[in-house]
Amino acid sequence: MKIEELKTPAFLIDLPRLKANVQMMKARAQKNSVTLRPHVKTHKTVEIAKMQTSAEAPGITVSTLAEARFYQKAGFNDITYAFPITANKLSEAAGLNADLQVFNILLDQPQTQSAVEAYGRQHGIKFNVFLKVDCGYHRAGVDPSKPESVQFAHRLAASGFIVFKGILTHAGHSYHCSNPAEIVAVAKQERDLMAQFADRLQENGIACESISVGSTPTAMHAPDWQGVTEIRPGNYVFFDKFQADIGSCRRQEVAATVLTTVVAHYPAHNQMLIDAGALALSKDLGADHLGREIVFGTVRNHPQLRIFSISQEHGLITANDPLAFEKHPVGSLLRIIPNHSCLTAALFPKYHVVDEDQVVDEWTPMRGW
Ligand SMILES: Cc1ncc(COP(=O)(O)O)c(C=O)c1O
Repeated sequence: MKIEELKTPAFLIDLPRLKANVQMMKARAQKNSVTLRPHVKTHKTVEIAKMQTSAEAPGITVSTLAEARFYQKAGFNDITYAFPITANKLSEAAGLNADLQVFNILLDQPQTQSAVEAYGRQHGIKFNVFLKVDCGYHRAGVDPSKPESVQFAHRLAASGFIVFKGILTHAGHSYHCSNPAEIVAVAKQERDLMAQFADRLQENGIACESISVGSTPTAMHAPDWQGVTEIRPGNYVFFDKFQADIGSCRRQEVAATVLTTVVAHYPAHNQMLIDAGALALSKDLGADHLGREIVFGTVRNHPQLRIFSISQEHGLITANDPLAFEKHPVGSLLRIIPNHSCLTAALFPKYHVVDEDQVVDEWTPMRGW
């Protein structure tokens, strides 16, 4: 089938580009002697997770328990659930713990530690636990500079109902950067804070089996990972406009696009209507901190076109100059590079895998919580 035959909007994955991105991150991890445990929430498919892993590095990272179950059923055996656990999820987590060779959870609240220990005591199980660390993003995690955080790790390591695995962070503030030099600085901060915290724990007799970091921008720009054992980037399989805008990839490395149809011309307003709205692109604003005009993606090969407004199923395109309507007849197709491919992918029940102008495969991601 040819791309032109697809019903729009459709989520397209450029297969050669995807394979190149997957290989590039494997090579970076190998060269730097860290284990790659990719975050699969970006795509939530078995096909891509298989490409990303290997016999030597079989582990993956997920963001929901439903994802963990989906991958367990697909044969994956080593999973980190990288969202802080809560007491109401422990019985589902215990089921996964029983069915997987390795299942890691994380927490940063003393109350949650108590709940995990109480559950373990009652049901005779020991969860593998990471202490979640805040390396500057301030979304979640303990402050590694505080003595209380060392004491917290000590309580985890000393617990008879927990296997203390180590420390884990996500440098999400790398997305606030404007260029590669700034990302390098965040990558060094992420690496150094974690390595130093692990050293402090070691001095206090607490061993970390795993020191885990990861975001796509820092994974792309870290000069090295001295003192780190594991990286967990996810977005790199597709990249997107955001990553290109802040300099973590080049525009031509983006593997995901949304195929859309030009629905109507409105010369009086210098506008075109497309069938990709918020439910095809997401309302992610992209790198809005860069101070550029907000757009909801960029049209591949037509940088002058601006997707300036979206509602549920409608998208509107304009340009600074009069639109060349004759180049984009009603019924013609455009391919949009999304602002944030993880959120865009999550809107589609199917992905179309393409090579040049051919649709070569169709993949079904998992959905739900
Ligand atoms: C805990 C955690 N680890 C890893 C990642 C992967 O980072 P990225 O999406 O930048 O590849 C994320 C993404 O949000 C995350 O929340």
